[in-house]
Amino acid sequence: MSTARPTCWLVTGANRGVGFEILRQLLASPSNLVVATARVPENATALHDLKKTAKGTLHVIKLDISDFDSIRASAKDLQAILGDTGLDYLINNAAIAPRDTAFTIKPEELLDAFKTNAVGPMLVSQVALPFLEKGIAKKILHISSTGGSVGSADQVGPIVAGYAMTKSALNMLAYKQKLERPDLTVITLCPGWVKTGA
Ligand SMILES: NC(=O)c1ccc[n+]([C@@H]2O[C@H](COP(=O)([O-])OP(=O)(O)OC[C@H]3O[C@@H](n4cnc5c(N)ncnc54)[C@H](OP(=O)(O)O)[C@@H]3O)[C@@H](O)[C@H]2O)c1
Repeated sequence: MSTARPTCWLVTGANRGVGFEILRQLLASPSNLVVATARVPENATALHDLKKTAKGTLHVIKLDISDFDSIRASAKDLQAILGDTGLDYLINNAAIAPRDTAFTIKPEELLDAFKTNAVGPMLVSQVALPFLEKGIAKKILHISSTGGSVGSADQVGPIVAGYAMTKSALNMLAYKQKLERPDLTVITLCPGWVKTGA
């Protein structure tokens, strides 16, 4: 049996969509250990099925990214899984995309979206930091969107205004994280249009 240190990943919102596909591809390699988060792990049947065929190692933990207590509580699970090895890559993927425009969006919905899409990833990064410090790659990847880029807003038009505002905030978070911690690699990227089940 190999005793080589695995490359360790944490992927939020991994039970479906883009997050699930990232997970599926990572788990094709035996050298990866992936911690996948789901709001309700018991219902994440796709993740449990994937466990049966994965060549890499999959751990599923509970995390609601819009619930700060839930994020803080995940530190204990992370310690149990990553305590000795640390974390190489954090992928902040989970998000919601309310359909609205700037003149129709409800402030309460916008705050929910900010919580999920920007503040949650910020807190997940804080919780993950001690593990990233112990890791080798030290990389944070925020899954953002073209919609969050001021320069590209024309391409999207007036729709999903609140979502776009939250992704702009996420982009700035990445920038500020990088300025504060030049020892980390922090990037945002847009996966492009992906036809997920949502
Ligand atoms: N699909 C696209 O075309 C596209 C384009 C640009 C950017 N993106 C970005 O790519 C990422 C993934 O998008 P997607 O299309 O795969 O979305 P999706 O199919 O709607 O999946 C969203 C994922 O996020 C999770 N999630 C949502 N709210 C959560 C919460 N409060 N706590 C924990 N998990 C939560 C969902 O879990 P549940 O199953 O529990 O709801 C699900 O696993 C997002 O950041 C999105 O903004 C997507």
